Amino acid sequence: MRVTALLALAWLALLAGCSEAPPPALGGDAENGRLLLRQFGCIGCHRIPGVAGATGNVGPPLDGVGRRVYLAGVLPNSPANMVRWIRDPQSFGFDTAMPDLQVTESQARDMVAYLQELK
Ligand code: HEC
Repeated sequence: MRVTALLALAWLALLAGCSEAPPPALGGDAENGRLLLRQFGCIGCHRIPGVAGATGNVGPPLDGVGRRVYLAGVLPNSPANMVRWIRDPQSFGFDTAMPDLQVTESQARDMVAYLQELK
């Protein structure tokens, strides 16, 4: 009886471990992020739904970027990785046309709060 109970607990623990939680959000301010995407000129290179003037075609369109599996084709998409990418796209060891725009950590979090909602 006790062994059965223990096995049941172990099974539950295993199940809990298997269920994939989404990566944690970073608590940025999405509305401010939307404004920052304009201010930093992201719109010159990216099409971004809901951001006026965001018609650029240098980089990939960011509609649906919240659902994308890899950023820039290499970096697993999570809020934290998107912040790293936005702050310093040159730091990943491959050439990319996306420049370092001197975005601060908190500004990047706000942008990511907006971008991760684009699904
Ligand atoms: C000079 C053009 C340029 C500017 C300005 C620019 N980007 Fe990019 N961005 C790119 C390019 C090109 C890529 C594709 C990178 C690659 O695959 O090497 C990219 C990729 C991205 C990606 C990953 C998209 C994906 O699906 O892989 C995100 C997110 C992103 N940019 C956000 C931003 C944000 C936010 C800003 C403003 C702070 C910005 N970009 C400014 C050119 C730009």
